Amino acid sequence: MSVTAVLGCLWGDEGKAKIVDALAVRADAIIRFQGGSNAGHTIIKDGEKYVFHLVPSGMLYPEKHCFLGAGTVIDPIMLLEEMKALQDRGLSFEGRFFIDPRATMVLPLHKELDSKREDSDGQTKIGTTRRGIGPTYADRASRIALQIIDLIDPERLKSRLERIYAFHGRDTANIDKLTDELLKKGEMLKPYFVQVPYVLDQFYREGRDLLFEGAQGTLLDVGFGTYPFVTSSYTSAGGISAGSGFPPNKIDRILGVYKAYTTRVGEGPFPTELDNEIGNRIRKQGNEYGAATGRPRRCGWFDGVAARFTAMINGITDGAITLLDVLSGFDTLNICVGYCIEGISTREMPFNAEDLNHAQPIYIEMKGWHEDITGIRDFESLPPNAKKYIEKLEEVIGIRFTVISVGADRKQTIYRT
Ligand code: GDP
Ligand code: IMO
Ligand code: MG
Repeated sequence: MSVTAVLGCLWGDEGKAKIVDALAVRADAIIRFQGGSNAGHTIIKDGEKYVFHLVPSGMLYPEKHCFLGAGTVIDPIMLLEEMKALQDRGLSFEGRFFIDPRATMVLPLHKELDSKREDSDGQTKIGTTRRGIGPTYADRASRIALQIIDLIDPERLKSRLERIYAFHGRDTANIDKLTDELLKKGEMLKPYFVQVPYVLDQFYREGRDLLFEGAQGTLLDVGFGTYPFVTSSYTSAGGISAGSGFPPNKIDRILGVYKAYTTRVGEGPFPTELDNEIGNRIRKQGNEYGAATGRPRRCGWFDGVAARFTAMINGITDGAITLLDVLSGFDTLNICVGYCIEGISTREMPFNAEDLNHAQPIYIEMKGWHEDITGIRDFESLPPNAKKYIEKLEEVIGIRFTVISVGADRKQTIYRT
């Protein structure tokens, strides 16, 4: 029996879903504990592509149990659309998909507020996914949000909708229509409601394997990310228990997912960004376009300072390095091992976004490799320079990579003990 968490340790899109999919073979339950439809988690199975947003990536295995914890924010309309699309592809949800009714509800209002804030001249543009994530978590903290449980009580749903719309200075004329629409969604989602903490506790006591699936990345954590250019949930290890009700002292393994280089989508500081031909080449080779929004991702060299920080705050036990194959064909590769900020060099992550904006990366140069590595399945067979690159990253971050991903397909994975 084991309890494992898979966390993104950069700015998201590290290839978490591919790793969750690989590890889920042995798990009985896959649990999302934070975030919402802002996530875009891609799995390639037998050449077929699946992109998950709220539904846990474990859903592709017909016998696995998948959970949405209390810390997630759920747009009932989007969730049902996502479920329908998966059902149309042959996936069954019955008896193995569960929602904690404590989860917070994303309303159409929240999406409007998200876009309004993004488009407002007076506000810092974050480059959000416009899925209403920030406004929903804000309302949750303000204690005016609706919970998923409200979907099945007509009276309560209507009065809470009226209150939240009034609070945001909105017209409440269409509340009856919205109430009816949401009640229908509630009917459809009700069969999936369970007390997630009790079910996870029971699974644990029965000795079943649990797998927590992080969304976004630690550098987007609302507390320890590059604030304000972050998402609005706790994406770091601390968020697992807060968002699922499963105790932290029962988690055995916290696997950190690191891309072999760095990407970021949206605004905010990115010291190792390559706004040049090399960055374009990485984007092209890695097909770096957002899985949720299709936006081109900003690309850069591996940031060892940020990576070491996220390994530290998450208590990473071991790591997965992904998209290593994308780096084939470069004569040299840079790894950032420090920052120079206003003439002072440091290996620490600065706590404000302005300092990070001014940070000049201090690089070490590694020799690249030219071989295609997508067919390799054991560490020893990798080109010597690829092995040296991995070992250098391990030294810089202070963790060991037990999983190496050399392609998007489930099978293109190297395991190391
Ligand atoms: P996530 O949000 O962390 O799950 O990652 P995304 O799905 O947003 O982005 C990762 C992208 O890289 C997806 O298109 C994956 O199919 C792809 N991918 C994952 N691992 C590898 C890999 O090792 N090599 C290559 N070439 N692509 C990969
Ligand atoms: P996965 O799980 C990459 C980014 C957005 C924006 C910031 C805030 O696929 O790794 P939000 O809509 O959450 O309020 O946007 O966070 N962002 C992500 N970037 N991967 C994600 O998810 C992301 N989810 C949000 O681009 O910069
Ligand atoms: Mg993604």
